[in-house]
Parts: sequence; C-alpha cells; structure tokens
Amino acid sequence: MRILITGAKGRVGRDMVLELARRRHEVIALGREDLDVTDLPAVRRCFTAWRPDVVVNCAAYTNADDAEREREAALATNALGARNVAISCREARTVLLHFSTDYVFDGEKSEPYTIWDSPAPLNIYGVSKMWGENFVRSLLDEHYVVRASWLFASHGRNFVETMLRLGGASGPNRSPGQPCASTVSTGLPVVPVVTDQCGSPTYAVDLAKACADLLETGCFGTYHVTNHGTVTRYEFARAIFEMAGLAVDVRPARSEAFPGTARRPRNSALDPFPLHETIGYLLPPWQDALKRYLGHRDPGTQADRPTKPVGHAAGGLWPREQEELAT
Ligand SMILES: NC(=O)c1ccc[n+]([C@@H]2O[C@H](COP(=O)([O-])OP(=O)(O)OC[C@H]3O[C@@H](n4cnc5c(N)ncnc54)[C@H](OP(=O)(O)O)[C@@H]3O)[C@@H](O)[C@H]2O)c1
Repeated sequence: MRILITGAKGRVGRDMVLELARRRHEVIALGREDLDVTDLPAVRRCFTAWRPDVVVNCAAYTNADDAEREREAALATNALGARNVAISCREARTVLLHFSTDYVFDGEKSEPYTIWDSPAPLNIYGVSKMWGENFVRSLLDEHYVVRASWLFASHGRNFVETMLRLGGASGPNRSPGQPCASTVSTGLPVVPVVTDQCGSPTYAVDLAKACADLLETGCFGTYHVTNHGTVTRYEFARAIFEMAGLAVDVRPARSEAFPGTARRPRNSALDPFPLHETIGYLLPPWQDALKRYLGHRDPGTQADRPTKPVGHAAGGLWPREQEELAT
C-alpha cells in the first residue's frame, strides 16, 4: 500500500514510518515543514500529488500544559487539522488512521474507559483531540481512531526520560551542571511523583505494530491501544528507577503539588476491547515494554537527536531508521 504519514517526525510518526517501511509499504513521510495540516488547500494538493491508499495522521499539538495558554494553536492542529485530513480522505476515497488520547476522558470512572464511554475532557488539549475525533467520525466512514496513553518512544521527550534525568542518569536530557535535589540524610536524588493519576503506559514501537496490523483488517472504528496493565505515575517511576538500576528517593505527591499544569484525568486506564478480537492479540505488559525501551535506549539518540531527514523529506528516512532497516 502507499501510505502517507503526517507529523512523521514526531514520536509516533517515526515509529509508524519504521514499522510500515519494514513491512514493505511505500511510505511517504511528511514532517510539518512538508505539510501543515491546518492548511486545507495544502492537504488537498498533497493528496493529489501522492495519491495515497492510506493516511496515518500523526500530526498533533501534544503539549497539554502549553495548550492551556495556546488554545488557538492546539485547536487548529488537533481539531481543524484532523478535519482537513478527514475531508481530503473523503474526497480521495482514502482510508484514515487518526491518533487520539486518553485525555478525552475526565478520569472520574472507577473502571477502565471503553470505546463506548463518552468523552468529557478536563483540559484544552483533551477538548481539541475530542473535536478532532468527532470530525473524523462525522466526515469519513473508512477510519480508525486509535487512542493511546502515556506514550514513550525513543524520540523526543517522555515520562521515562524525565524520570531518568531527575533520578540523575546521564544523558542529553540532563542540562549541564543541573543539580538533583537530594536528601541530606541519604544523599539520594529526591523525586516527587503523583500517586493520584493512574493509566497504561504505551511504547510507540508496540503501538506502531498494532496500528500496522489494524490497517490490514479493514475493521474500521475506534480502538484503545496501550500496553497491558495499569499503574500510577508513582509506581511507574519506581519501576523505571528499579529497572534502570538507579537509587532514588521517590516521594508520593498529589497533582495539586504541581500548580500551573493542565488538569489531568485521575484514571486514564483504557479497556482494549475489541482490539484482541480484531488483530488477534493484546499489547505486551507495560513492564515488558519498559524493559525493552531501556534495553534499546541510546542516550545519544534521545531528545536532542537531529530531526533533519536524510535526502529529500517526502519518503525520506532518518539516520537511525535507515540503520534499523538495514539490520
Ligand atoms: N505523547 C503522548 O503521551 C500521547 C498519548 C496519547 C496519545 N497521543 C497522540 O498520539 C499522536 C502522536 O503524538 P506524538 O506523541 O507522536 O506527538 P509529537 O511527538 O508531538 O509529534 C507530533 C508531530 O506533529 C507535528 N505537527 C504539529 N503541528 C503540526 C501541523 N499543524 N501540521 C503538521 N504537523 C504538525 C509536530 O511538529 P513540531 O514538533 O514541529 O511541532 C510533531 O512532529 C497524537 O495524536 C497524540 O495526541 C500522544
């Protein structure tokens, strides 16, 4: 299949490019400078030029805290951008796989959220993603809306890298000379982490594989795709430090201890039904995913890695992707 990926330089975008190219699909990887999804004529021109069979929309405004201040920008990319891609897919009779998030829910449910639960976002990012979902569903029959949560990928920032930095691990995410808070008594770095947010971490590599499998089913609809199991942020942080072999004094904290950030759902757990019934498996447990992530982690390829593609951008691959495909 010829598959066009928007936002191809983001966390999910990069792993989608890798996974689909590995499966020998013809991949057209477009970064933001190649295609701005808020520009409908540009999206239409792209579809005419490339004539894709499938579009994977990874373009998104994803900083939930900044979105509270930059409401227009978040809505433009996540709602209007999704609308523009869906309109162009409908006109070109192209299948769309669109990503969304657990943040469309308010987190007040005591059970994991199912695909039939009604969104009620707590923050602007969640609102913008909900509107994006609604545009996709109302404009296009042949769509997959894939909600993920607590994403970690080997590109860009994520919670795991933040914890490793705060825990004192060396790596490019640590600013030169940046001290770690530490207890006088133990000398260990002190890292407060919230106990009142629980969810399912998602490794972008596993997400990309499941999405590539979903695309082969033709079973359109909404899916929850996360690694198996739920955990609080606090427990997740402890697991990260333990697996990374870091001695850290992890302190339980409440969300109120971090003022100025966007409100987040207390419960982000997503029920995967009907993922197993559709692709034949569920994603591995988050502990397994974290172990693989840490095993593959190369500090030189984390947040500070160059984002320029090799050669021409459209259809181009980045250095590490090229290496991985060659091995
Ligand atoms: N990260 C998470 O924890 C998480 C959790 C659940 C769901 N998701 C969803 O997964 C999807 C992918 O997220 P991600 O983590 O890969 O995000 P990401 O790393 O922030 O990547 C998003 C990409 O989209 C690009 N972009 C932004 N505005 C654009 C525009 N107007 N036109 C075209 N491209 C644009 C960004 O470019 P710039 O960097 O130049 O802005 C970036 O390369 C999103 O739909 C997100 O909502 C993410």
